[in-house]
Amino acid sequence: MRITSLLSVLGLIASAVAQLPETPRFDLTQPSYDLFRSKKLGGVTVQQSFTFDNVNRRLFVAQRRDGSDTKAGDLTISQLDFSGNLLGSMDLLGCGHGVNIAAQAVGDATYLWTETDTASSGYGQRLWRFEFVDGLTLDSAKDTDIERILPVADADRCTCTIDPVSNNLVVRYQRDSKQNIAVFDLDEATAGNFSTPLADFLIPDLNDLSNVFQGYTAYGNYIYFLLGESYDASSGVLNSQVVSLDLNTGKIAQGPVMTRAGSTLEFREPEGMAIYKTVAGEVRLFLGFASGKAGDRRCNLFYKNALVF
Ligand SMILES: *[C@@H]1O[C@H](CO)[C@@H](O)[C@H](O)[C@H]1NC(C)=O
Repeated sequence: MRITSLLSVLGLIASAVAQLPETPRFDLTQPSYDLFRSKKLGGVTVQQSFTFDNVNRRLFVAQRRDGSDTKAGDLTISQLDFSGNLLGSMDLLGCGHGVNIAAQAVGDATYLWTETDTASSGYGQRLWRFEFVDGLTLDSAKDTDIERILPVADADRCTCTIDPVSNNLVVRYQRDSKQNIAVFDLDEATAGNFSTPLADFLIPDLNDLSNVFQGYTAYGNYIYFLLGESYDASSGVLNSQVVSLDLNTGKIAQGPVMTRAGSTLEFREPEGMAIYKTVAGEVRLFLGFASGKAGDRRCNLFYKNALVF
């Protein structure tokens, strides 16, 4: 009896502290490099987020579907090659804002994890997971046979990213109008097991310039946030920032640090983050920006690769 209660106390303590193996952290003060600039997507609206299938080496970008109301939750997901050429796209109806998306290899196929079941706010209330098929349209109202995923029981809004190096699913979820982060082993999450989060905390006050959240990604025991506004929204002031938090403590590790990546782009709205590990083994922290004119927005991707060991 005493041993059992001791173990349960230890279990409680363990669930509240470090669960993720320590990894190097990106130095956010170091420069960003171009992957590509000014590329066309399947639609003409601003990109919202992007993700890599790191196994099949594919890139996917989410945006609001052309012609849909901003609150309808209709999205277009475009597949691009790493030079930014458009390879295909699919539409998601009534799904969400496209805050963040994640890609997972299943053999030669790519499965995407996105929001679904949009609320009147335009944000998705659940996640779902499906194979990317060029030209296919999924409709949350009709495709009720696709399983709904709610990683945290009392969340009313959620999105996710995949750390392809650590094989973790990282979820940003809203509860009581506050944003939280939870981390799960990707294989367990794919099997529907969300019983044992590796981290779960309320996002602290970031003290950033804009207070506009634009995307996140994770590598090892660190999570990265992209913040800031377009030049249109900020009256031409560059206010894009990046910040890292230690997933094992829930506290800020570095930043917010100003990023000038693509500072000369027209419009330049910070939109999306992702981790990618190259064939040569270099882990990259990607930052996305939308550019161009209304009715002809373009996709721009940059990356940082300097690590602090
Ligand atoms: C769920 O995942 C945890 C690890 O994240 C594991 O310890 C547990 O055994 C899993 N439960 C089931 C029913 O597979």
